[in-house]
Formats: sequence, C-alpha cells, structure tokens
Amino acid sequence: MTRPLLFTPLQLRDVTFANRITVSPMCQYSAVDGFANNWHLVHLGGLAKGGFAAVMTEAAAVQDHGRITHGDIGLWSDAHADALRPAIDFIKANGALAGIQLAHAGRKASMQRPWRGNGPITEADNALGDHVWPVKAPSALPVAEGWLVPEEITQSEIAALIDDFAAAARRADALGCDFIEIHSGHGYLLQTFLSPLSNKRTDGYGGDRKGRSRALLETAEAVRAAWPQGKPLFVRISSVDGAEGGWEIADSIDLAKDLKALGVDVMDCSSGGNMGASKVSAGVPLPPGFQLPYAQAIREGAGIATQGVGLIVDGPQAEAALQSGQCDLVAIGRQALFDPFWPRHQAYDMGVNAYDDWPEQYGWWLQRREKSIQAMKKG
Ligand SMILES: Cc1cc2nc3c(=O)[nH]c(=O)nc-3n(C[C@H](O)[C@H](O)[C@H](O)COP(=O)(O)O)c2cc1C
Repeated sequence: MTRPLLFTPLQLRDVTFANRITVSPMCQYSAVDGFANNWHLVHLGGLAKGGFAAVMTEAAAVQDHGRITHGDIGLWSDAHADALRPAIDFIKANGALAGIQLAHAGRKASMQRPWRGNGPITEADNALGDHVWPVKAPSALPVAEGWLVPEEITQSEIAALIDDFAAAARRADALGCDFIEIHSGHGYLLQTFLSPLSNKRTDGYGGDRKGRSRALLETAEAVRAAWPQGKPLFVRISSVDGAEGGWEIADSIDLAKDLKALGVDVMDCSSGGNMGASKVSAGVPLPPGFQLPYAQAIREGAGIATQGVGLIVDGPQAEAALQSGQCDLVAIGRQALFDPFWPRHQAYDMGVNAYDDWPEQYGWWLQRREKSIQAMKKG
C-alpha cells in the first residue's frame, strides 16, 4: 500500500517535518503577566505526544501591550522565554518540532478572554483584574462600534515594533525553536496595515498595496535576518478580509511573492477577523476545509509552500488537500483539542502503522494489546 502523503516527511531548509501535520496556534488565555506555566507545558506537551510533526505555541506577544488578552503569553523579555522553556524542551524531547507564533494584537489588544465575552473589556473585567491599556493601530479606527479607539501608531513606534519582532525571534532561537511564524492575520496589528478597511494612512505605510504591505515586509526582513538561515519562517495571513472593499486573494498572492523573495518559506492561509472578534470567520458559511482554496490559490499563484487550516477534521480530508496540491502542510486547531492524539489515530485508521512510532511508554503496551485483539479475532 502506498504511504499517504500525510505521513511523509517535508524538508524546509535544514528542518525535516516528520509528517505534514502541525498544531495550529491556539491561545490558551491561561498565562499570568505573559508568563507560560504548567498549563502550557501539559497542553503543548500532550500534543507533542500525539504525533504532530510540529507543535506551534499560541500567539506570543512581542510587546506587553501587544497581547490580545491578559491571559496571553509573551516573548518580550528573556524571563518570558524562560517560562516557555519547559514546554519547548518537552516538545523537542518527544519527537516533535517546536514553533512559536510571534504576534502583536494592535487594535484588538486588551480585550476579554473568550469565555468572559470575547469583546472589549468591561467594568466587570476590571473588577476581575483585567484592565484596559491603550491600543495602537495604523489608523485611529476601532474594530467595530463599542471597541477601543486605537491611537495611530507613529513611524518610530513601527520601527520599535519591528525591532521587537526581531528580538523575539532571537529569543525563540535561543530557546531551541525549530521554526517561527509571524502572525499577520485575524485583524491583529500587521493585518490591519494590510487591509484597506483598517489602514487609511497617508504616509509610506499606507496607500496602495505596496505601502500597506510595508510594515509586514520590513518585519519579515528583520525577522529573517535575526533568525538562522537554516530554520524555516512561516507567515500567517488572512487570505481575504471577506468584506466589501477589503483585502482580496489577488493581494495575498502578490504579498506572498514579496515575502518569498525575503526568505519566507510557508504561507499559513487563514482568513477574516479584521472586523470583529472571530478568528475563523471571513463572513462566509464555513464548510469543512473552507480556507483550503485560498491556500491553493497562493501556492499556485506565488509558487510558495502553503499550510492549509480551518475545519480539517479527518485524515482522508487532509490527504485529499495534500494530494490535490492545495497545501504542503495541514494545521489542526480545534480538532486537536478534541483529540490531542489526532495524527496517531489517523495513522492507525489509514493503516500506516499500529503503534510502532508511539512513545514507548504507551506503544509497547498497545502493540501487545493489538496482537491479542487480532489473535482473538482469528479465533
Ligand atoms: C482556542 C483558539 C485559540 C486560537 N488562537 C490563535 C492564535 O493564537 N493564533 C492564530 O493565528 N490563530 C488562533 N486561532 C485560530 C486557529 O489557529 C485556527 O486557524 C482556527 O481555529 C481554524 O482551524 P480549526 O478549524 O482546525 O480549529 C485560535 C483558535 C482557537 C479555537
């Protein structure tokens, strides 16, 4: 039987992904003052045990005011990196690659944790200790009515932001991370520069697509210079705003060409989020694999590797996406929360192996149990 593409390796620069499955970045809203803790160790460590080729952390803020919520992790100091070390070490010691998503939330910073409302912070959140801080964006436009009105970020603050992305990349390298991702999607700071709906600047960081892309391109260039040549760099974008007059797929293809020229290896193709809290919705109905056509258009249009994400729920679906050339990697989000052993379970169901590459603490027993089940079946 031919081995499914899903369970074949992918080489990116000097780094080998053992299979095509990564953990999509997922905020846990469980950090205190930006410091990761045992929750992150167990959560991310469990996913490493589950057979993902690569485990990416949630969005790690490159500045304290760049956190989405008070519960986000940060990477703006060495002490914050130290707090992540146990999780990164565990991931790597258990056969997976470790990645960190670097982010700044822009005008969506300082908001409520999802289970406290997922909107702007209220008096009730203040009483719980989550206080508002001033937010920055390319233009002084709120996400929607009732949200914080951001201050327009200055050019010297943009320069500082880019330096902080690069500093965080150096920290990720010192931590031993194998790959990193710049978050430029979901209505956070770098995406608000891209979209004409949120960027009304008249200086060199606004205007046409080139001007609106400048903040991200300068960030990618600085991060690439700070990040070892042998290690891959991903960029997550919202491939489309999903709103009239917004960022379109043709813009994403042109952007991906520019990013590729700067040494970006993978475009992680998400969508939406610029006009509200939702991370996954581009304002369109959401069938399984709803964002995969974006990954395909960018892969074909820009000649760059893509990561597909969004309602990928089973192995055959993921395999079809890879086989049809929609993407090179699949990122699994909520399905990984439902089943942290998703890759191993899919491998089992697709006949790839019965436990031989499981952690021996589990695999040794399950292999023997399997033998006795098969013997009983034979009768
Ligand atoms: C709990 C949760 C937290 C998330 N946090 C992030 C994040 O930190 N960065 C990011 O780019 N996307 C984030 N997302 C979006 C996911 O990475 C993913 O793109 C989205 O959930 C769609 O994939 P899925 O259908 O496999 O869940 C989050 C999603 C969830 C459910």
